[in-house]
Amino acid sequence: MIIEVENLVKRYGSLMALNHFNLKVKKGERLGLLGPNGSGKSTAINCMLSLLSYDKGSIKLFGEEMAPDKYDLKRRIGVVPQEVAVFSELTAEQNIDYYCGLYIADKATRKQHVAEVIELVGLEEFRNFVPAKLSGGLKRRLNIACGIVHKPELIFLDEPTVAVDPQSRNKILESIRILNEQGATIVYTTHYMEEVESLCNHIVILDQGEVIAEGSKEELKQMIRTTEKLVIELPFFSDSLKKYLAGQPDIIETEYDQIFLTLHTTHLKKTLLELLSFFSTQQLDFGSIHTQEVTLNDVFLEITGKALRD
Ligand SMILES: Nc1ncnc2c1ncn2[C@@H]1O[C@H](COP(=O)(O)OP(=O)(O)OP(=O)(O)O)[C@@H](O)[C@H]1O
Ligand SMILES: [Mg+2]
Repeated sequence: MIIEVENLVKRYGSLMALNHFNLKVKKGERLGLLGPNGSGKSTAINCMLSLLSYDKGSIKLFGEEMAPDKYDLKRRIGVVPQEVAVFSELTAEQNIDYYCGLYIADKATRKQHVAEVIELVGLEEFRNFVPAKLSGGLKRRLNIACGIVHKPELIFLDEPTVAVDPQSRNKILESIRILNEQGATIVYTTHYMEEVESLCNHIVILDQGEVIAEGSKEELKQMIRTTEKLVIELPFFSDSLKKYLAGQPDIIETEYDQIFLTLHTTHLKKTLLELLSFFSTQQLDFGSIHTQEVTLNDVFLEITGKALRD
Protein backbone atom coordinates (compact mmCIF):
# COMPACT_ATOMS: atom_id res chain seq x y z
CA MET A 1 0.00 0.00 0.00
CA ILE A 2 1.40 3.42 -0.96
CA ILE A 3 -1.11 5.39 1.14
CA GLU A 4 -3.03 4.26 4.22
CA VAL A 5 -5.12 6.84 6.04
CA GLU A 6 -7.21 5.67 8.95
CA ASN A 7 -9.98 7.56 10.73
CA LEU A 8 -8.51 10.97 10.06
CA VAL A 9 -10.25 13.78 11.91
CA LYS A 10 -9.35 17.41 11.17
CA ARG A 11 -11.13 20.34 12.74
CA TYR A 12 -10.73 24.05 12.02
CA GLY A 13 -12.16 25.41 15.25
CA SER A 14 -15.69 24.06 15.40
CA LEU A 15 -15.75 23.09 11.71
CA MET A 16 -15.24 19.38 11.07
CA ALA A 17 -13.26 19.44 7.81
CA LEU A 18 -12.48 15.69 7.82
CA ASN A 19 -14.74 13.33 9.68
CA HIS A 20 -13.11 9.91 10.10
CA PHE A 21 -11.67 9.96 6.61
CA ASN A 22 -10.21 6.67 5.36
CA LEU A 23 -8.15 6.10 2.25
CA LYS A 24 -6.08 3.29 0.78
CA VAL A 25 -4.08 3.75 -2.41
CA LYS A 26 -2.20 0.92 -4.09
CA LYS A 27 0.98 1.24 -6.10
CA GLY A 28 0.32 2.35 -9.66
CA GLU A 29 -3.24 3.51 -8.99
CA ARG A 30 -4.76 6.71 -10.36
CA LEU A 31 -6.93 7.77 -7.48
CA GLY A 32 -9.55 10.45 -7.99
CA LEU A 33 -10.66 12.37 -4.93
CA LEU A 34 -13.91 13.90 -6.12
CA GLY A 35 -15.97 16.34 -4.11
CA PRO A 36 -17.64 19.74 -4.27
CA ASN A 37 -15.98 22.96 -3.04
CA GLY A 38 -15.24 22.79 0.64
CA SER A 39 -15.66 19.01 0.92
CA GLY A 40 -12.15 18.61 2.38
CA LYS A 41 -10.01 17.53 -0.58
CA SER A 42 -7.14 19.98 -0.01
CA THR A 43 -7.30 19.41 3.74
CA ALA A 44 -6.93 15.66 3.19
CA ILE A 45 -3.92 16.16 0.90
CA ASN A 46 -2.25 18.66 3.21
CA CYS A 47 -2.67 16.32 6.19
CA MET A 48 -1.17 13.42 4.19
CA LEU A 49 1.82 15.61 3.35
CA SER A 50 2.22 16.66 7.01
CA LEU A 51 1.69 20.28 5.97
CA LEU A 52 -1.27 20.41 8.35
CA SER A 53 -1.63 18.90 11.79
CA TYR A 54 -4.74 16.84 12.54
CA ASP A 55 -6.80 15.89 15.55
CA LYS A 56 -7.08 12.12 15.26
CA GLY A 57 -6.18 9.19 13.07
CA SER A 58 -3.08 7.85 11.36
CA ILE A 59 -1.34 8.39 8.05
CA LYS A 60 1.14 5.97 6.50
CA LEU A 61 2.96 6.64 3.25
CA PHE A 62 5.03 3.84 1.64
CA GLY A 63 4.21 1.77 4.75
CA GLU A 64 5.77 4.29 7.13
CA GLU A 65 4.13 6.70 9.56
CA MET A 66 4.22 10.16 7.96
CA ALA A 67 5.57 13.12 9.98
CA PRO A 68 6.77 16.67 9.19
CA ASP A 69 10.45 15.67 9.41
CA LYS A 70 10.23 12.53 7.24
CA TYR A 71 12.41 13.98 4.50
CA ASP A 72 13.26 10.56 3.09
CA LEU A 73 9.54 10.01 2.40
CA LYS A 74 8.99 13.56 1.16
CA ARG A 75 11.71 13.09 -1.45
CA ARG A 76 9.66 10.30 -3.01
CA ILE A 77 6.59 12.54 -3.33
CA GLY A 78 5.65 15.23 -5.84
CA VAL A 79 3.11 17.90 -4.99
CA VAL A 80 1.21 20.14 -7.36
CA PRO A 81 -0.65 22.56 -5.09
CA GLN A 82 -4.03 24.09 -5.84
CA GLU A 83 -2.56 27.60 -6.01
CA VAL A 84 0.25 28.17 -8.52
CA ALA A 85 3.50 28.37 -6.54
CA VAL A 86 6.37 29.59 -8.72
CA PHE A 87 8.89 32.43 -8.54
CA SER A 88 7.81 35.46 -10.57
CA GLU A 89 11.36 36.66 -11.26
CA LEU A 90 12.55 33.34 -12.73
CA THR A 91 11.78 32.05 -16.22
CA ALA A 92 9.79 28.83 -16.68
CA GLU A 93 12.96 26.81 -17.16
CA GLN A 94 14.76 28.44 -14.22
CA ASN A 95 11.76 27.73 -11.98
CA ILE A 96 11.73 24.06 -12.96
CA ASP A 97 15.51 23.81 -12.50
CA TYR A 98 15.23 25.43 -9.06
CA TYR A 99 12.66 22.87 -7.88
CA CYS A 100 14.70 20.05 -9.39
CA GLY A 101 17.79 21.31 -7.55
CA LEU A 102 16.02 20.85 -4.21
CA TYR A 103 16.19 17.10 -4.80
CA ILE A 104 18.90 16.43 -7.34
CA ALA A 105 22.43 17.76 -6.93
CA ASP A 106 24.07 16.29 -10.04
CA LYS A 107 24.03 18.93 -12.77
CA ALA A 108 23.85 16.62 -15.77
CA THR A 109 20.96 14.59 -14.33
CA ARG A 110 19.19 17.80 -13.45
CA LYS A 111 19.54 19.14 -16.96
CA GLN A 112 18.09 15.97 -18.39
CA HIS A 113 15.16 15.91 -15.93
CA VAL A 114 14.33 19.56 -16.68
CA ALA A 115 14.41 18.97 -20.45
CA GLU A 116 12.20 15.88 -20.15
CA VAL A 117 9.56 17.58 -18.02
CA ILE A 118 9.42 20.64 -20.28
CA GLU A 119 8.61 18.32 -23.15
CA LEU A 120 6.12 16.33 -21.06
CA VAL A 121 3.97 19.36 -20.19
CA GLY A 122 4.56 21.06 -23.56
CA LEU A 123 6.40 24.20 -22.48
CA GLU A 124 9.18 24.02 -25.11
CA GLU A 125 8.28 27.34 -26.72
CA PHE A 126 7.83 29.08 -23.40
CA ARG A 127 10.92 28.01 -21.47
CA ASN A 128 12.33 31.54 -21.40
CA PHE A 129 9.10 33.25 -20.40
CA VAL A 130 8.60 34.59 -16.88
CA PRO A 131 5.31 33.43 -15.26
CA ALA A 132 3.60 36.80 -15.78
CA LYS A 133 3.93 36.28 -19.56
CA LEU A 134 2.26 32.85 -19.44
CA SER A 135 -1.48 32.25 -19.86
CA GLY A 136 -3.39 30.66 -16.96
CA GLY A 137 -3.21 27.21 -18.55
CA LEU A 138 0.55 27.48 -19.24
CA LYS A 139 1.16 28.65 -15.67
CA ARG A 140 -0.64 25.55 -14.42
CA ARG A 141 1.55 23.41 -16.68
CA LEU A 142 4.62 25.11 -15.20
CA ASN A 143 3.26 24.46 -11.70
CA ILE A 144 2.95 20.77 -12.57
CA ALA A 145 6.44 20.63 -14.07
CA CYS A 146 7.91 22.10 -10.87
CA GLY A 147 6.10 19.53 -8.72
CA ILE A 148 7.12 16.44 -10.69
CA VAL A 149 10.53 17.24 -12.17
CA HIS A 150 12.39 15.10 -9.60
CA LYS A 151 10.52 12.00 -10.85
CA PRO A 152 8.58 11.17 -7.67
CA GLU A 153 6.94 7.78 -7.09
CA LEU A 154 3.79 9.34 -5.66
CA ILE A 155 2.22 12.50 -7.09
CA PHE A 156 -0.50 14.63 -5.50
CA LEU A 157 -2.29 17.00 -7.87
CA ASP A 158 -4.82 19.34 -6.28
CA GLU A 159 -7.33 20.60 -8.88
CA PRO A 160 -4.67 21.16 -11.57
CA THR A 161 -7.15 22.05 -14.32
CA VAL A 162 -9.32 24.70 -12.68
CA ALA A 163 -9.82 27.63 -15.07
CA VAL A 164 -7.61 26.31 -17.88
CA ASP A 165 -8.49 26.17 -21.57
CA PRO A 166 -9.38 22.78 -23.13
CA GLN A 167 -5.99 22.50 -24.86
CA SER A 168 -4.05 22.86 -21.61
CA ARG A 169 -6.51 20.61 -19.82
CA ASN A 170 -5.93 17.83 -22.36
CA LYS A 171 -2.18 18.29 -22.16
CA ILE A 172 -2.31 18.12 -18.36
CA LEU A 173 -4.45 14.96 -18.34
CA GLU A 174 -2.21 13.36 -20.97
CA SER A 175 0.94 14.20 -18.95
CA ILE A 176 -0.58 12.57 -15.86
CA ARG A 177 -1.38 9.41 -17.82
CA ILE A 178 2.22 9.25 -19.07
CA LEU A 179 3.62 9.72 -15.55
CA ASN A 180 1.38 6.91 -14.35
CA GLU A 181 2.51 4.64 -17.22
CA GLN A 182 6.09 5.38 -16.15
CA GLY A 183 5.22 3.98 -12.73
CA ALA A 184 4.03 6.90 -10.60
CA THR A 185 1.03 6.51 -8.30
CA ILE A 186 -1.40 9.41 -8.74
CA VAL A 187 -3.72 11.18 -6.30
CA TYR A 188 -5.86 13.65 -8.21
CA THR A 189 -8.45 15.95 -6.69
CA THR A 190 -11.12 17.72 -8.67
CA HIS A 191 -14.76 18.68 -8.71
CA TYR A 192 -14.97 17.85 -12.43
CA MET A 193 -16.50 14.40 -12.64
CA GLU A 194 -15.66 14.03 -16.35
CA GLU A 195 -11.96 14.22 -15.55
CA VAL A 196 -12.17 11.61 -12.86
CA GLU A 197 -14.20 9.36 -15.16
CA SER A 198 -11.63 9.54 -17.92
CA LEU A 199 -8.45 9.53 -15.82
CA CYS A 200 -8.94 7.60 -12.60
CA ASN A 201 -9.21 3.86 -11.98
CA HIS A 202 -10.25 4.29 -8.37
CA ILE A 203 -12.60 7.02 -7.20
CA VAL A 204 -13.37 8.29 -3.71
CA ILE A 205 -16.31 10.68 -3.41
CA LEU A 206 -16.07 13.13 -0.55
CA ASP A 207 -18.83 15.29 0.89
CA GLN A 208 -18.53 17.47 4.00
CA GLY A 209 -15.37 15.69 5.11
CA GLU A 210 -16.81 12.20 4.79
CA VAL A 211 -16.30 9.48 2.18
CA ILE A 212 -19.78 8.85 0.84
CA ALA A 213 -18.84 6.27 -1.82
CA GLU A 214 -15.82 4.68 -3.44
CA GLY A 215 -14.92 2.22 -6.18
CA SER A 216 -14.33 2.17 -9.92
CA LYS A 217 -16.65 4.34 -11.98
CA GLU A 218 -18.61 1.23 -12.97
CA GLU A 219 -18.98 0.16 -9.34
CA LEU A 220 -20.08 3.62 -8.29
CA LYS A 221 -22.73 3.75 -10.99
CA GLN A 222 -24.08 0.39 -9.88
CA MET A 223 -24.52 1.66 -6.33
CA ILE A 224 -27.53 3.77 -7.25
CA ARG A 225 -31.02 2.85 -8.35
CA THR A 226 -31.05 4.97 -11.51
CA THR A 227 -30.00 2.81 -14.47
CA GLU A 228 -30.56 5.34 -17.22
CA LYS A 229 -32.02 8.77 -17.90
CA LEU A 230 -34.71 9.65 -20.39
CA VAL A 231 -34.70 13.13 -21.89
CA ILE A 232 -37.87 14.38 -23.60
CA GLU A 233 -38.30 17.68 -25.40
CA LEU A 234 -41.53 19.18 -24.12
CA PRO A 235 -43.07 22.60 -24.82
CA PHE A 236 -44.57 22.75 -21.34
CA PHE A 237 -44.72 20.77 -18.12
CA SER A 238 -48.41 20.37 -17.29
CA ASP A 239 -49.85 19.66 -13.87
CA SER A 240 -51.41 16.44 -15.11
CA LEU A 241 -47.98 15.21 -16.28
CA LYS A 242 -46.39 16.24 -12.98
CA LYS A 243 -49.03 14.27 -11.13
CA TYR A 244 -48.57 11.26 -13.41
CA LEU A 245 -44.77 11.24 -12.91
CA ALA A 246 -45.09 11.57 -9.14
CA GLY A 247 -47.17 8.41 -9.13
CA GLN A 248 -44.55 6.30 -10.96
CA PRO A 249 -42.39 4.26 -8.56
CA ASP A 250 -39.71 3.62 -11.22
CA ILE A 251 -39.04 7.33 -11.65
CA ILE A 252 -36.58 8.46 -9.00
CA GLU A 253 -35.88 12.01 -10.05
CA THR A 254 -37.55 14.52 -12.36
CA GLU A 255 -35.94 17.68 -13.72
CA TYR A 256 -37.52 20.21 -16.09
CA ASP A 257 -35.50 23.08 -17.52
CA GLN A 258 -37.85 25.02 -19.85
CA ILE A 259 -37.51 22.62 -22.81
CA PHE A 260 -36.20 19.30 -21.61
CA LEU A 261 -37.74 16.93 -19.13
CA THR A 262 -35.16 14.53 -17.67
CA LEU A 263 -36.35 11.43 -15.87
CA HIS A 264 -34.07 9.22 -13.78
CA THR A 265 -35.51 5.76 -13.97
CA THR A 266 -34.85 2.27 -12.70
CA HIS A 267 -36.57 0.67 -15.73
CA LEU A 268 -36.03 2.57 -18.94
CA LYS A 269 -38.23 0.61 -21.36
CA LYS A 270 -41.16 0.40 -18.99
CA THR A 271 -40.98 4.11 -18.18
CA LEU A 272 -40.78 5.01 -21.88
CA LEU A 273 -43.68 2.82 -23.02
CA GLU A 274 -45.95 3.96 -20.22
CA LEU A 275 -45.07 7.58 -20.80
CA LEU A 276 -45.83 7.35 -24.52
CA SER A 277 -49.18 5.85 -23.77
CA PHE A 278 -49.87 8.65 -21.26
CA PHE A 279 -48.93 11.25 -23.90
CA SER A 280 -51.22 9.55 -26.40
CA THR A 281 -54.30 9.34 -24.14
CA GLN A 282 -53.76 12.93 -22.92
CA GLN A 283 -53.00 14.11 -26.48
CA LEU A 284 -49.83 15.83 -25.25
CA ASP A 285 -47.33 17.02 -27.81
CA PHE A 286 -43.62 16.28 -27.49
CA GLY A 287 -40.41 16.66 -29.53
CA SER A 288 -37.24 14.58 -29.54
CA ILE A 289 -36.61 11.76 -27.05
CA HIS A 290 -33.19 10.42 -26.17
CA THR A 291 -31.47 8.54 -23.39
CA GLN A 292 -28.47 9.50 -21.26
CA GLU A 293 -26.11 7.30 -19.35
CA VAL A 294 -25.68 7.65 -15.60
CA THR A 295 -22.84 9.98 -14.57
CA LEU A 296 -20.92 10.38 -11.32
CA ASN A 297 -23.01 13.49 -10.72
CA ASP A 298 -26.08 11.22 -10.61
CA VAL A 299 -24.29 9.03 -8.08
CA PHE A 300 -23.59 12.10 -5.96
CA LEU A 301 -27.16 13.37 -6.43
CA GLU A 302 -28.78 10.12 -5.41
CA ILE A 303 -26.58 9.65 -2.33
CA THR A 304 -26.54 13.24 -1.03
CA GLY A 305 -29.67 14.74 -2.58
CA LYS A 306 -27.70 17.58 -4.16
CA ALA A 307 -25.73 18.18 -7.35
CA LEU A 308 -21.95 17.88 -7.41
CA ARG A 309 -21.71 21.11 -9.32
CA ASP A 310 -24.18 23.89 -8.63
N1 LIG B 1 -7.33 27.37 7.27
C1 LIG B 1 -8.62 27.18 7.43
N2 LIG B 1 -9.30 27.70 8.46
C2 LIG B 1 -10.63 27.49 8.63
N3 LIG B 1 -11.38 26.74 7.81
C3 LIG B 1 -10.78 26.18 6.76
C4 LIG B 1 -9.37 26.38 6.50
N4 LIG B 1 -9.05 25.70 5.38
C5 LIG B 1 -10.20 25.11 4.95
N5 LIG B 1 -11.23 25.41 5.78
C6 LIG B 1 -12.63 24.90 5.64
O1 LIG B 1 -12.58 23.49 5.67
C7 LIG B 1 -13.47 22.91 4.71
C8 LIG B 1 -12.69 22.05 3.75
O2 LIG B 1 -11.84 22.89 2.97
P1 LIG B 1 -10.89 22.35 1.83
O3 LIG B 1 -10.10 23.51 1.34
O4 LIG B 1 -10.15 21.16 2.32
O5 LIG B 1 -11.95 21.88 0.74
P2 LIG B 1 -11.73 21.48 -0.79
O6 LIG B 1 -12.52 20.25 -1.02
O7 LIG B 1 -10.28 21.45 -1.10
O8 LIG B 1 -12.44 22.70 -1.54
P3 LIG B 1 -12.08 23.41 -2.95
O9 LIG B 1 -12.70 22.53 -4.01
O10 LIG B 1 -12.79 24.71 -2.85
O11 LIG B 1 -10.60 23.54 -3.06
C9 LIG B 1 -14.18 24.09 4.07
O12 LIG B 1 -15.40 24.27 4.75
C10 LIG B 1 -13.24 25.25 4.30
O13 LIG B 1 -13.94 26.46 4.36
MG1 LIG C 1 -9.11 22.48 -2.43
